[in-house]
Amino acid sequence: MKKNEILKGTISSIGYNGEGIVKSECGTVCFVPFALLNEEVSFKVLKANKNIAYCKLEKVLSSSKDRTEPLCPVFKKCGGCQLQHASYKEQLRIKSNIIKDCFYKIAGINVNVEPAVTSDNEYGYRNKIQFPIRNTKNGNVVGFFAENSHRIIDVNECPIQIDGAKDLIYCFKKFILDSGISCYNEETKKGLLRHVVARNIGNAISIIVVVNGKVLKHQETLVEILKSKFSEFSLFVNENTSDSNVILGSKYTKIYGSDYYYSQDFGIKYPVMCQSFMQVNNSVKQKLYSAVLNNACLNENAVVIDAYSGAGVMTAMLAKKANKAIGIEIVKEAVESANLLAKENGLEDKMTNICAPCEEVLPDIISKESLNSKEVVVVLDPPRKGCDTNVLNAILKEKPMRVIYVSCSPQTLARDIGILTNRLVYSGNQLVKNEGESIYKIESITPFDMFPHTKHIETLVCLCKKA
Ligand SMILES: C[S@@+](CC[C@H](N)C(=O)[O-])C[C@H]1O[C@@H](n2cnc3c(N)ncnc32)[C@H](O)[C@@H]1O
Repeated sequence: MKKNEILKGTISSIGYNGEGIVKSECGTVCFVPFALLNEEVSFKVLKANKNIAYCKLEKVLSSSKDRTEPLCPVFKKCGGCQLQHASYKEQLRIKSNIIKDCFYKIAGINVNVEPAVTSDNEYGYRNKIQFPIRNTKNGNVVGFFAENSHRIIDVNECPIQIDGAKDLIYCFKKFILDSGISCYNEETKKGLLRHVVARNIGNAISIIVVVNGKVLKHQETLVEILKSKFSEFSLFVNENTSDSNVILGSKYTKIYGSDYYYSQDFGIKYPVMCQSFMQVNNSVKQKLYSAVLNNACLNENAVVIDAYSGAGVMTAMLAKKANKAIGIEIVKEAVESANLLAKENGLEDKMTNICAPCEEVLPDIISKESLNSKEVVVVLDPPRKGCDTNVLNAILKEKPMRVIYVSCSPQTLARDIGILTNRLVYSGNQLVKNEGESIYKIESITPFDMFPHTKHIETLVCLCKKA
């Protein structure tokens, strides 16, 4: 298979990044983004080795009934969405299959995946936006990165965002023009404006401007421009002078508005600080939290350890139904939010928020709580890299009654559930498949479509101890 060769084939499956897969006669697996199952397509080889070829879709020769018209004019250029060309039903089928496939390939477990829980809105659902600002050979550009690249695609709006994204992008484009402020250039490492991260909280918007320096020049101009579009907003400057892909630095300075805004879910009123993690899709967040609560099967004797607890909303919901809940979270400001939440909702006696890495403190906490209670439940909601082995080993040692695992990465989820069900064990540093008995039964695996039109999916797995 040679570069630039044009080939034809039928899509026989869909890959983990939402791309179509053609298996060529010579056995090469060809990845063809934007092609759907069973479609006959022609494609151009962009890069190939003996086993794998990365290709570009040239033409759909026979179209799937699930093909739809993308809403976004830059869909195929921008790296944000991968599945706008597929009907919503087909997107859910693709994502459920990815979960099933990960469990089988990574952990050797053949699982049943429950029907996916859907988003109320297929477009206009994201409450968080982050966009880079760069100085390029084409001038200053505000937009999104292309897939797997630092090439920036100029955009004016984004249909998966909730209202306000268009206005925000407009404000930053206007600010750059009106003030003449410099924008970050990745080659020279010079230029001030680097990134914008913003989140809608109720009727307010919390905006962080990341600068390659210490101060945001012309900040009054930016505040005035933002005032013309937003009635309630806060503006923070974040310093990031590092030469890395990390978006946020560690230092924030507020230059306008409130330190935080309040949100409310399930009768719990909570402050959202700009540094805290929040689920990006409000309707799916509510469905997910309800499912966590239902599947935890709590009573007034239960003790819940909520690991990777963010700003503590789920910890509070769990605490209300249990004897107590202990949240563990690494970000100091998120723990401050959780403490404020506990105080303002009268949950201080039932809810403890610990600021520490789970891998360091969870083993001692679970040992102590397991000595005192037979009804320990662990909720895990780690970042994409999954749980640390210290966390998984402590669970295997103390054997809590139930483990509820929320994950945004099917790959690390399958690995960790494989370890917790004894289907994967360490041999030296390597994880190997194992046929041993498990103390846990997989009760359910449910996709929650937190991120429609993208390849991403949130999954809830419930484990219960075997009798
Ligand atoms: C996917 S979020 C879940 C937050 C929360 N459960 C929620 O629904 O809002 C993961 C959280 O884990 C935190 N985190 C990341 N690494 C951690 C670690 N090693 N120990 C404790 N918390 C960590 C992050 O700051 C983030 O708040």
